[in-house]
Amino acid sequence: MRVAPPLPFRETFDCLWCGRAHRTRSDADLEGWAALCPDCVGRAGDNGFLRYRLRQALEERSRATDAPSQPTEQPVDLDADMKAYYAARAPEYDEVYLRREEASGGPVLGLWFERELDEMTQWLDALPLRGEIVELAAGTGWWSPLLAQKGELSIYDIASEPLDIARRRLVAHGLRAHIHVRDAWQEPDRQVDALFCGFWLSHVARERLDDFLRLAGRWLKPEGRFAFLDERAGTEAVDPGADAGSGTSVRRLADGREFRIRKVYYGPDELRLALLRAGFARAEVRTTERFFLMGSAER
Ligand SMILES: C[S@@+](CC[C@H](N)C(=O)[O-])C[C@H]1O[C@@H](n2cnc3c(N)ncnc32)[C@H](O)[C@@H]1O
Repeated sequence: MRVAPPLPFRETFDCLWCGRAHRTRSDADLEGWAALCPDCVGRAGDNGFLRYRLRQALEERSRATDAPSQPTEQPVDLDADMKAYYAARAPEYDEVYLRREEASGGPVLGLWFERELDEMTQWLDALPLRGEIVELAAGTGWWSPLLAQKGELSIYDIASEPLDIARRRLVAHGLRAHIHVRDAWQEPDRQVDALFCGFWLSHVARERLDDFLRLAGRWLKPEGRFAFLDERAGTEAVDPGADAGSGTSVRRLADGREFRIRKVYYGPDELRLALLRAGFARAEVRTTERFFLMGSAER
């Protein structure tokens, strides 16, 4: 999930404030840098958010016109970069769940984001998850207390920093889990009743999706359940660092450090078909109206 990255120019977009579709005429149009329609740009004088967005857009536009255009360099090892990013981001990661206006792109979308987070939480809570449960790429453990109430939970992540926060969260709830550093790509060491991944599939490159889903299947006992949550196709519109071509996104931390990570915005049909290809017997992937998708599949 993202935090306040720089703004790229967008030729067409839905206005971040009023949601109206707009097409710019050229990359000199400030609207395309701010992702605001002309009416909302005109209203910026008496609205703090719109003023902030315009200021950023002016900076980005002048940076782009001043700088000679250069191809974006890809780091040699995206996986290492992603690990370094999430390790460094651990103390600020939960802001994406807590400061919903910024995560979603403004106060209107913030309310929407909050409602859809609730919808996802209720959906996950209603799933029949029980027995031994494994959570891969658990990060700061936002979803772990909910899972730990349903069975014997193990949470894994490639970085220890977010897991330290997850541990404190579980303790604060009076809950327990087995907590270990572990690569999500590592072969399973046992079969469990349920496997969960929150916002991880979007970090799996498209060409490796089938491999990962087959690995997910190998984690499960017969009739075990795989469940996941993620950002849905379409939300790349509010991820200004996203580059759909390479399946990556540029993320910036509060201290200004930038990282390029894998980020693929999958659609529900694409994931459902991939789950069936990977050998799951039944697969359901649904979306919330704007931001998220939720999937559940039985082995
Ligand atoms: C978007 S965060 C999701 C965190 C948490 N699941 C949630 O829903 O809030 C992605 C997580 O994947 C972890 N990660 C990155 N590469 C990984 C890998 N190869 N194996 C396991 N975890 C990895 C990161 O450290 C980070 O905590």
